[in-house]
Amino acid sequence: MADSRETFLVNAFVTGWPVKHSRSPLIHGYWLKQFEIAGTYRPEAVNEADFPAFIQSLKDGSSGFRGGNVTIPHKEIAFKLADRPDDLAREIGASNTLWMEDGLLHATNTDSYGFTANLDDRHPGWDKSDSAVVLGAGGASRAVIQAIRDRGVGEIHVVNRTVSRAEELADRFGPKVHAHPVEALDEVMSGAGLFVNTTSLGMDGNDAPKIDFSPLASGAVVTDIVYVPLKTSLLAQAEAQGFPIVDGLGMLLHQAVPGFEKWFGRRPVVDKTLRDLIIADMERH
Ligand code: ATR
Repeated sequence: MADSRETFLVNAFVTGWPVKHSRSPLIHGYWLKQFEIAGTYRPEAVNEADFPAFIQSLKDGSSGFRGGNVTIPHKEIAFKLADRPDDLAREIGASNTLWMEDGLLHATNTDSYGFTANLDDRHPGWDKSDSAVVLGAGGASRAVIQAIRDRGVGEIHVVNRTVSRAEELADRFGPKVHAHPVEALDEVMSGAGLFVNTTSLGMDGNDAPKIDFSPLASGAVVTDIVYVPLKTSLLAQAEAQGFPIVDGLGMLLHQAVPGFEKWFGRRPVVDKTLRDLIIADMERH
């Protein structure tokens, strides 16, 4: 006889290529245990050629998954293949969270929520600024711009080595968003209350350029979406220059919350034990 618990088992995934470095199974595993939910959350390594078939197996129910997370390199194609992408995913043009509902595959993007929730948690009042500077115009920058704009920060200055990419984002995210070359950095930092690094500069301990943060408004918050290392070179510089800093780990933790709620029906909380669990894992690898 089948185990009666099987009836209630909810399964979710994180898919990417590669996917083995993902910390999402640790995060969701922590919450599943906390709520004593009969469910699984597991990595599914799917390459680009096999991804459409993977999506089809979600839609026809043969995969056995209620939904899951999507990471690099599948975020754009997941958005395109979903039946019901929401406005957030549509504006970003990529999705990191999928779920089946009423026989249709829904998609959203929770990165902007993760960014906002992290700053709300670590530095409430971060949004009371007239202007913000976003360094970088890649995929990760989109969710950050969306988050800051939706919170009502007046002007958003996107500074990028390749200015045409910043211009694309200014077009996409509307009149509050302005594109600038790197040479304009000092000028646009003047009086800004928020500085966000979305580039890979400083990732894995690589050297980042020296930045003079002094043009920022007094008490301006500096944050980095890179979280390995936790204190990136840019954050260390900002801290040494007297500015409050917020590391990027909380964005990873908070972006997981809406997905967990969709699949497993409970809204989890990002607490210190979870944060310490992920930090311990980062120290091991
Ligand atoms: P992601 O999706 O993680 O944002 P991406 O799309 O490759 O990755 O974007 C990386 C960002 O880091 C871009 O803004 C990139 O600048 P370019 O658009 O000019 O390429 C920025 N970046 C990466 N290495 C850089 C470097 N050495 N100096 C300045 N900017 C850099």
